[in-house]
Amino acid sequence: MESAEAEFKERFSLVGSNVKIFSGNAHPRLAYDICRYLDLPLGRSLASVFRNGETRIRIEETVRGKDVYIVQPICGRVNDSLVELLLMIDAVARASVKTITAIIPYYGYAKQEKKSMGREPIAAKLFANIYTIAGAGRIITVDLHSAAIQGFFDIPVDNLTFLPLLQNYFANKLENEEIVIVSPDAGGVARAKMFADNMRASLAIIFKRRNRPDHAEAIDFVGDVKGKTVVILDDMISTGGTLIEAAKLLKQHGAGKIYACATHPLLAGSAIKDIEESDIEEVVVADTVPIPIEAQRGKFIYLSVAPLIAEAIRRVHYNLSVSMLFDWRKKYETSSY
Ligand code: R5P
Repeated sequence: MESAEAEFKERFSLVGSNVKIFSGNAHPRLAYDICRYLDLPLGRSLASVFRNGETRIRIEETVRGKDVYIVQPICGRVNDSLVELLLMIDAVARASVKTITAIIPYYGYAKQEKKSMGREPIAAKLFANIYTIAGAGRIITVDLHSAAIQGFFDIPVDNLTFLPLLQNYFANKLENEEIVIVSPDAGGVARAKMFADNMRASLAIIFKRRNRPDHAEAIDFVGDVKGKTVVILDDMISTGGTLIEAAKLLKQHGAGKIYACATHPLLAGSAIKDIEESDIEEVVVADTVPIPIEAQRGKFIYLSVAPLIAEAIRRVHYNLSVSMLFDWRKKYETSSY
């Protein structure tokens, strides 16, 4: 397998290709890691602010005829990250590039993908339109909050998944243990079911209520967790309330060790401290957004998605199957190219 992998990477190397990768200010570390994995330099660009508060962008090297990839999760100062990305897309679109791919590892505003009551916007759809109008020809993202968001775009969207990395981690860590995968709310059931099937584990589902924004309450669950090791799977951690409340409820019903995992560690407000003080043993997350220093120790473990995104870039560039990336047995087989 190792030599097949090396042969694959050599045959489909991006060194010397017309691929150019740029980063906004939201997560330059991830962009560097992607470039390092592919042996490419990070493109030179400037993203700053004029005195009047407007965002200033300049691409500082030629991109004429290039396949440009811009890495920018919509996180941190969310609206600044969004505007930076849009202006970077516009800047390269006006500079005669060949293709533009927006790499949005965390697709911000994804939770506003439907109206939950009257007179609300559908922000995820609005921004899908705007990325396209700005000039993006393709989107690469990771674990969209709702897979239906792909359909908001009329351009290709590669929705990569962190699940195989989690599966690999927990399969090694919890070998020989009887595991229950828990979805902390109804919206996460399909994701948790797929994870449970791959892990050959059983499934439990929590019913969650939100009486007000950013406040989660776990009210009941179905499944059997007594004396078992549980892994709660979510797509993102914002305030941490969903996971903490879920862990509390599972503990009350006799669960053994409680692990949690999620793709996007947004870790808003006091989430890190609250999780450190909770019933959760360990939390495994991806680096789709920057990981604060306090979450790089204690109960937090993070696994990088840089290789995953880098491999997706390689496959897009060479017109290879991106879904094959998730077939561990076949991804380096010549017949699957
Ligand atoms: C909700 O639908 C999401 O999948 C997450 O469960 C939620 O965003 C987590 O938020 P918090 O950490 O604030 O409870």
